[in-house]
Amino acid sequence: MKIAVPAETEGGEPRVAATPDTVKRLTGLGAEVSVEAGAGMRAGIPDADFAAAGARVGNGAAVKDADIVLKVRRPSKSEVAGYKPGALVIGILDPYGNDTALAELAAARVAAFSMELLPRITRAQSMDVLSSQANLAGYRAVIDASAEFGRALPMMMTAAGTVPAARIFVMGAGVAGLQAIATARRLGAIVTATDVRPAAKEQVESLGAKFVAVEDEEFKQAETAGGYAKEMSKEYQAKQAGLVAAHIAKQDIVITTALIPGRPAPKLISAAMVQSMKPGSVIVDLAVERGGNVEGAKPGEVAEVKGVKIAGYLNVPGRLAATSSSLYAKNLFAFVELLIDKEKKLNVPWDDEIVKATLLTRDGAVVHPNFQKKT
Ligand code: NAI
Repeated sequence: MKIAVPAETEGGEPRVAATPDTVKRLTGLGAEVSVEAGAGMRAGIPDADFAAAGARVGNGAAVKDADIVLKVRRPSKSEVAGYKPGALVIGILDPYGNDTALAELAAARVAAFSMELLPRITRAQSMDVLSSQANLAGYRAVIDASAEFGRALPMMMTAAGTVPAARIFVMGAGVAGLQAIATARRLGAIVTATDVRPAAKEQVESLGAKFVAVEDEEFKQAETAGGYAKEMSKEYQAKQAGLVAAHIAKQDIVITTALIPGRPAPKLISAAMVQSMKPGSVIVDLAVERGGNVEGAKPGEVAEVKGVKIAGYLNVPGRLAATSSSLYAKNLFAFVELLIDKEKKLNVPWDDEIVKATLLTRDGAVVHPNFQKKT
């Protein structure tokens, strides 16, 4: 069984899909692992460390014989053309709204697995790339906000006077939001948070933050069986906006993380709300890649509107490439383990719930039910 780890090519991606630790573990499962030279450089992993862990380090040609290709991002058409038909391609494949790319993966006859479609069941937790990466993005959002903010976050009592604690509001209290709350609390800020899922209230409060939301009948029903948010009605959104508008005007920093799977990110902060904040305030929009939660957020930029900064950093987990790669690589290892039998042979359990939920293409066709062409 051959596993290849190419260097990432898309969008300046600094993460890598394996680490020396996972190379050792994959080798222990009976795999021969090849890593493209330089693949780990921007995640702080030199080729020599991969080689010392037992990987062959080469020019990337190993992908053509690989049974499994481990990726961070979806491979381009030209990359996938170099893979062996039948190869398993595992990565964050960003399938929604990318029908052409899915058709290309199918045409290359690879079995492509999209890790972000993993079901949120206990058995899959160690493979959950959305959680591992969102957790780090939530942490980094607070660090990025504090770097842009011209004041201190904690209250400080000094001989020269007292510095008040910063007020931070976190919108969306999923994995990223909860880590943002925890980080902001550790840094001494006064933290409030909102979400449309009722389950979030207790989690927010357990981290020592105050929960702010319109808690009506719709809110009580707003969680899917999979634990995700539903798109809220126009009426709810209007009530939510009213409550949030008054609150935002009093904040120093707002971090938005709200997402709905397969849908554009909900718009939560209008231009008027941005302008209600004091000059020097900072907003970090972690949803910017999915359309953004904040009006005026620009992908890849720190925009400034009347003294309020709106940070729209792309690939926030990639801003911590060493840490995010180490967790991502472990997620992929846990997934690959599922595909290998006791005799150390590649033996994909095609009927397994985790395999079925993540498999996008196989034998020349797009097979995932969410991406069938509507007739
Ligand atoms: P996500 O990344 O899809 O969305 C982020 C947050 O935005 C969610 O909490 C969502 O409710 C919120 N949101 C959506 N629309 C909003 C709006 N209009 N206003 C305010 N907030 C809004 O979600 P994520 O972070 O992936 O987590 C979803 C849930 O799944 C969480 O409860 C998390 O703890 C749970 N989970 C469960 C796992 C398991 O294995 N059982 C693993 C990972 C997460």
